[in-house]
Amino acid sequence: MINLTGKIALITGGSRGLGRATAHCLAQAGADIAILDIDDQAATTVEEVKALGRRATFQHTDVSDNAAVREAVASVEQELGPIDILVNNAGIVKNIAPISRMTQEAWQRELGINLSGPFNLIQAIAPGMAERGWGRIVNISSAAARGGLYNQAGYAATKAGLLGLTQNVTLEYAGKGVTCNAILPGIIGTENVMAMPQEIFDQAVRLVPTGRVGKPAEVANLIAFLCSELAGYINGVDILIDGGAALNTVVLGSRKALKS
Ligand SMILES: NC(=O)c1ccc[n+]([C@@H]2O[C@H](COP(=O)([O-])OP(=O)(O)OC[C@H]3O[C@@H](n4cnc5c(N)ncnc54)[C@H](O)[C@@H]3O)[C@@H](O)[C@H]2O)c1
Repeated sequence: MINLTGKIALITGGSRGLGRATAHCLAQAGADIAILDIDDQAATTVEEVKALGRRATFQHTDVSDNAAVREAVASVEQELGPIDILVNNAGIVKNIAPISRMTQEAWQRELGINLSGPFNLIQAIAPGMAERGWGRIVNISSAAARGGLYNQAGYAATKAGLLGLTQNVTLEYAGKGVTCNAILPGIIGTENVMAMPQEIFDQAVRLVPTGRVGKPAEVANLIAFLCSELAGYINGVDILIDGGAALNTVVLGSRKALKS
């Protein structure tokens, strides 16, 4: 059974979507929860976690800011105690353009949040985990890390970069009781995804053999498992959770097929 009693988990981007579902799931498994987010709506997630009987705290923090992340981690550890579990979930999908028209500003912002963000958190937290001889890090990448995503070069590149970071963290920390794994979600029914134009949503779902979008709780349960004692020998891997959509990779890469 997944039991996280006594563990302290920090989740980035917990105001909604996968981060919020993960906060609920880890709290239900017994963990206390800290959330770092730039959206103050994360305070609501904190109240929801407290209603489950767990301790919880929220720090308004931009994960791309290394100094701010260090400060926030120190505050969390002062309030809740040393962090045992890190879920790098915060990410943006705002930079949608062909490479020829992608601005430097948008590219750098995407790198800052999707790739430097997880690096900043790992740099601030992993050494403490290693000293204490136990830790779990889960990086939320994307199926786009493998097949790319049309007109989203920055997103695909940062999510692929996150796999490289995951592997290196494993090499550095595996001998110290810390695991680091990545999850590659396909299309999951978070608020953002459900707000997609109906036509694009229908096209995307058509490519999922399971015939539906994933539920945030289904991803959160996988994260909870990877954060548990049960997953101690799973290290440095990336796990697809996509309803079988990767089997349609050739079709996904084809813009023409997406329009059919
Ligand atoms: N939903 C999907 O289908 C899907 C698929 C593959 C991968 N993912 C990945 O899963 C993660 C969560 O996805 P989601 O759909 O729940 O996204 P979302 O946009 O609903 O939530 C992202 C969260 O990150 C926070 N955030 C954004 N920028 C931040 C910053 N600079 N600092 C701190 N927090 C910040 C937002 O405020 C929000 O709470 C993302 O990394 C996303 O790329 C999602």
